[in-house]
Amino acid sequence: MTVRPLVAGNWKMNGALESFEEFSKIAAGYDAALAEKIDMLVCPPAVLLAKFAEVKNIAVGAQNCHSAVSGAFTGDISAEMVADAGGTYVLVGHSERREGYGETDADVAAKAEAAWRAGIIAVVCIGESLEQREAGETIAVVTEQVTKSLPDASNSENTVVAYEPIWAIGTGKTPTADDVAEVHAALRKSLEERFGEDGSKIRLLYGGSVKPSNAAELLALPNVNGALVGGASLKAADFLGIAEVYKNF
Ligand code: 13P
Repeated sequence: MTVRPLVAGNWKMNGALESFEEFSKIAAGYDAALAEKIDMLVCPPAVLLAKFAEVKNIAVGAQNCHSAVSGAFTGDISAEMVADAGGTYVLVGHSERREGYGETDADVAAKAEAAWRAGIIAVVCIGESLEQREAGETIAVVTEQVTKSLPDASNSENTVVAYEPIWAIGTGKTPTADDVAEVHAALRKSLEERFGEDGSKIRLLYGGSVKPSNAAELLALPNVNGALVGGASLKAADFLGIAEVYKNF
């Protein structure tokens, strides 16, 4: 089964209007050779979305959305607003949202459904804590998360899953290649059991301290269909260095 990979950048709360220049460099680096092999996505802070969406050759998306269409939800944005600004993806259930704002699997599933309602793709994030990994609970934890965070109508067109071990985010630490492969194999099995043949096509991204120096090893693993990149996506050279690994595959 060949699945078209996605290399996605999550800028988190970084960037300003002047970052359009760096973003433009990323977009310019997405040349014909890369476009033949992969999709690319940048999720900047929401206030930059409409500006970044002026550049048409790579996708842009939001880092979160509310599950409602509109209403009295001060400070929130809806998936419809993301789509209106030109976004075609939205990250849902990032661990920084789950941990910092108490988002549950049910909240994440509702946000994924909101994304589809607005006609955009949900990137559903899951991942275990260090405590859970050390207790040998990783597979059980991520399998439960993927089951509960993905609504029944999930498919390979409307949903991407990103596995991000919490302890690997922003720490420079990554699981071993064997550990990543083990988790992705378990996630694939779970998706296939639930969604049948289409479950083998849902893109499974790895995230957590991905950088140009470890990208080749991580992205070559079975059932790894791309990366969700934080810090290294802020610099065009680093982000493109990760994406360009695919030129050699
Ligand atoms: P880092 O690549 O900075 O570890 O962040 C990963 C992440 O959280 C992407 O969503």
